[in-house]
Amino acid sequence: MRNFTNVTDIGDLHAAVKQALEVKANRFAYQHLGKNRTLLMIFFNSSLRTRLSTQKAALNLGMNVIVLDVNQGAWKLETERGVIMDGDKPEHLLEAIPVMGCYCDVIGVRSFARFENKRDDYEETIINQFIKYSGRPVFSMEAATRHPLQSFADLITIEEYKATPRPRVVLTWAPHPKALPQAVPNSFAEWMNAAEDIDFVIANPEGYDLAPEFVGNAPVYHHQDEALKNADFVYAKNWSAYADPNYGKVLSTDRSWTITSEKMALTNNAYFMHCLPVRRNMIVSDAVIESERSLVIPEAANREISAQVVLMRILESL
Ligand code: CP
Repeated sequence: MRNFTNVTDIGDLHAAVKQALEVKANRFAYQHLGKNRTLLMIFFNSSLRTRLSTQKAALNLGMNVIVLDVNQGAWKLETERGVIMDGDKPEHLLEAIPVMGCYCDVIGVRSFARFENKRDDYEETIINQFIKYSGRPVFSMEAATRHPLQSFADLITIEEYKATPRPRVVLTWAPHPKALPQAVPNSFAEWMNAAEDIDFVIANPEGYDLAPEFVGNAPVYHHQDEALKNADFVYAKNWSAYADPNYGKVLSTDRSWTITSEKMALTNNAYFMHCLPVRRNMIVSDAVIESERSLVIPEAANREISAQVVLMRILESL
């Protein structure tokens, strides 16, 4: 595997989860792969889990790690081609990317949707420029439309906790005061649809349907309570509107969609999942996130494992 930006890059999901569980049991057994190799992690946006878990995964593999926060201490970067650079951005991404490639063997990029132009976001302009111009393998640490390291960790977690061969997994929208990208729900849907042994459904208010290529054949409910019936896993997440003319907008902060103990009582004693960070008592009540059925910490722990499998596969391709 050279680049990792979506579910198809990882190939067979059963094999990927099997490898992840092996790595989890013996995470320091692969240090030969990373010796004298350098990972560069580039952040255009903030992070806690991705930064720490990916760095830890690289250290498990014996790699050197360097980190660049583009908005803290680096030159401000122009990203548009053809711009007359007489403003406050002294460096262009098209020089910065190949320069960054000179200092490392593998590049991880975090670059969220900017909500300025839906086409730019959905064409993944930033990460694709890294793939095109860096000369290095590139993996997504959350791009404009997908967060595949998160989705892989979520799949590993579901495999670890499922009590039936084909669990019902409900992705539900929940309220949030600010406009958030669709990357996490898009990606979660993409991975759940690709995993053939999951009964996957989506619940969101009218106006919040995700892009059809991510929804796939999953049933979409506009009434949350109906979707939650018989759920084995409830994956809550906020996202902003996808459909035009409301792309990137907050249409609702309806707290009747908050996941509470009453909502969880509708399910098949489901586990609660969220990628974090989460706004308590907007997305989920204190009682649910603190309950024994909350998997938010195991999910976060599995971010180290998903990153390690991805890095191992990239290192093996060098
Ligand atoms: N879930 C996740 O990607 O967390 P961070 O934004 O903190 O990296």
